Amino acid sequence: MESFRSVLAWAERILGNIDNNRLDALILLSHITSFSKEKIIFNPDFKLNYDQKEKFFELVERRVKHEPISHLIGKREFFGADFSVSKDVLDPRPDSEILIEAILKKFPDRNQKLKIVELGVGSGCLIITLLTAFKSACGTGIDISNAALEICKKNAAKFGITKRLTLLKSNLFNQIPNNEARSTKHEARKFDLIISNPPYIPSDDIKNLQPEIVLFEPRIALDGGKDGLDFYHKIAAKAEKFLNQNGTVANPQFLPFLNAMSPCKSRVQTLQKVDLLHGQNGKIFLEIGYGQKEKVIEIFTKKGFLFIEASLDLAGITRVLEFSC
Ligand SMILES: C[S@@+](CC[C@H](N)C(=O)[O-])C[C@H]1O[C@@H](n2cnc3c(N)ncnc32)[C@H](O)[C@@H]1O
Repeated sequence: MESFRSVLAWAERILGNIDNNRLDALILLSHITSFSKEKIIFNPDFKLNYDQKEKFFELVERRVKHEPISHLIGKREFFGADFSVSKDVLDPRPDSEILIEAILKKFPDRNQKLKIVELGVGSGCLIITLLTAFKSACGTGIDISNAALEICKKNAAKFGITKRLTLLKSNLFNQIPNNEARSTKHEARKFDLIISNPPYIPSDDIKNLQPEIVLFEPRIALDGGKDGLDFYHKIAAKAEKFLNQNGTVANPQFLPFLNAMSPCKSRVQTLQKVDLLHGQNGKIFLEIGYGQKEKVIEIFTKKGFLFIEASLDLAGITRVLEFSC
């Protein structure tokens, strides 16, 4: 029987080509033994049984080939909670927590009955985190991948929000009925919030990403077309039809503006001057890639949306853009 100390030393050596090799070895050992990392460190002479040792060796060999830790242990932490993941979904990223923070900041009332749609729901880490925070909200999670929707369903059950989340296989908005009279299986919907972390890597750049991503993450979760912006164009082209524009006016002096401005596009210039008003209308929160800020703002403002705010990550890079109609 091998001790924690000896298998860890072996794994650290074998994983020499991997960043954070010691931490990875500890995470795998913790997964196999169900001991915390701290307990493993403080009990180096504990012994693994035969099955545990075999399983540990197998996972370490897979990690050597760059299979992500999350796939080996079947979960990844996002916003302080563990989400089930697999090769069929993008691993939740810390960068995407910026989108959650931006929305929590913008909607301080956690009892708000928000209707949220997420385009490209993947594991569900974004919409499930929001539905967990906003207990009266309901959501629609859309993905083109059946396998991703299965993982999202599993996570929705784990977080107890199944009844408030409708999952829909669709190419972006295509399967959401936007006409009440023609709605069939899924009720027609207008949303208060459209959120998306769409595929945004330029096609030719994908091959240069880390092997953990290129070899093990689904290409449809990454590939944003030639310049990475395909999905922003598609979302901007249709989003207006799916956004609520029924905000209440905080101050009666703004009523004449509201009456004078009907379709979203024609309101944009005026709304820039009417803060209280646009705060009530449907909003879009998008994650973007490095260097895409100006282009995505241009895409959405050309379609008549109002750019509200950019949120930066800890490195000072713009990660999330907020628009309103
Ligand atoms: C970058 S991942 C984001 C996953 C998850 N929302 C997150 O933030 O971790 C993009 C997701 O969009 C989905 N997707 C790709 N093309 C799509 C399309 N045309 N319509 C709907 N979903 C699509 C992918 O399957 C993938 O799950």
